[in-house]
Amino acid sequence: MTILDIRDRIAQAESVTVLTGAGISADSGVPTFRGEEGLWKNFRPEQLASPQAFERDPTIVWEWYNWRRELLSTKEPNAAHKALAELENHIKHFWLITQNVDGLHPAAGSTKLSEIHGNIWKVRCTNCGNIQPNHDVPIAILPHCNDCKGLLRPHIVWFGESLDQQDLDQSFQALRSCEVLLIVGTSGVVYPAASFAPIAKQDGAFVVELNLDPTPHSDLVDISIQGRAKDLVPLLLPM
Ligand code: OAD
Repeated sequence: MTILDIRDRIAQAESVTVLTGAGISADSGVPTFRGEEGLWKNFRPEQLASPQAFERDPTIVWEWYNWRRELLSTKEPNAAHKALAELENHIKHFWLITQNVDGLHPAAGSTKLSEIHGNIWKVRCTNCGNIQPNHDVPIAILPHCNDCKGLLRPHIVWFGESLDQQDLDQSFQALRSCEVLLIVGTSGVVYPAASFAPIAKQDGAFVVELNLDPTPHSDLVDISIQGRAKDLVPLLLPM
């Protein structure tokens, strides 16, 4: 089966769900998490992206996010993000689930999506829970809520935290009901997204993986194609 056969399969489907990870943004120049460029001052993301790290030292966590905001502020959606934004107009039931917090999917025009790990361009008050968009680069350290003066944190799901229930419900519904699941640029090791391919497969979806390298899911999916997201995803748009 070739990528063009997959395109035909997608064109005939009434329901398509897509799961993306850091690999789709790698083609926009965003470092992946498990690649070497994902390190900052020799910290691994796991050491900073946690409620414990923020409680211990909110300044260093915000400094890291400022480094990431600065890096991301220069990046733009690539051909793969744009193709997925277009694909949603061609499929009757389409849903995009992304683990990326970089905001490049909405920037490309995607509207039918769950950003299950949050969005780096949003802040949330640790006191009153209010969520606000914030595009400051850099953000003032330490930022405080306009309403209640509580400390603001990134609106991101950190290690050890639960995903938003509405995002999860929406994602599982989309996984269980789709004819085709397309997985792009994720190592497939972080839960719950790591469970998405088996769930969709069990419920009868045709599962396609596009990744630069083989992943733990490559043997489970119906077809795994290796290559760059920006080269492969645009080939999936209907003629
Ligand atoms: P990873 O860094 O774990 O994996 C990125 C995947 O993209 C790898 O499998 C690469 O082979 C692949 N890849 C790299 N460049 C590519 C390209 N140009 N085209 C296609 N594929 C490419 O990133 P994620 O799987 O997204 O969580 O990581 C999942 C989560 O772990 C992240 O959302 C983050 C992290 O901890 C949070 O921030 C909560």
